[in-house]
Amino acid sequence: EIGDATRGAQVYKKCSGCHQVGANAVNRTGPHLNGIYGRKPASVEGFFYSKGLERAAADGLEWDLEHLDAYLENPKALVSGTRMSFRGLKDPQDRHDVLAYLRQFSAN
Ligand code: HEM
Repeated sequence: EIGDATRGAQVYKKCSGCHQVGANAVNRTGPHLNGIYGRKPASVEGFFYSKGLERAAADGLEWDLEHLDAYLENPKALVSGTRMSFRGLKDPQDRHDVLAYLRQFSAN
């Protein structure tokens, strides 16, 4: 496994002010995160994304483990112009644990 999903649920509290995940999750300040692994970036219907993230998707960015990890470490470094105003998770263990948590809500 990538990390500890149980611990990741605690780390996710840093995300939950903007993102929902799980049954009945809806878009808020950020898009819902169900199925994020393998989801095309900037593809949730009805969510208003930045041009920066839409451009990155058009350029072939994929939400696999490597790129999710990089985005969470420093969103604006991976995606210039992203609207996600989150300074990032600097601790690799925090990133791996929250990504293990999110993996539970993805089919692939
Ligand atoms: C986008 C994860 C924290 C606001 C995203 C995306 C992911 C993500 C994977 C891309 C979604 C997609 O392509 O559909 C996370 C995680 C967080 C976190 C795991 C915590 C560790 C936050 C916080 C905010 C926020 C705290 C609000 C202050 C947004 C917004 C977008 C976004 C507005 C859309 C970005 C754009 O259009 O450029 N987030 N996020 N996120 N997130 Fe977060």
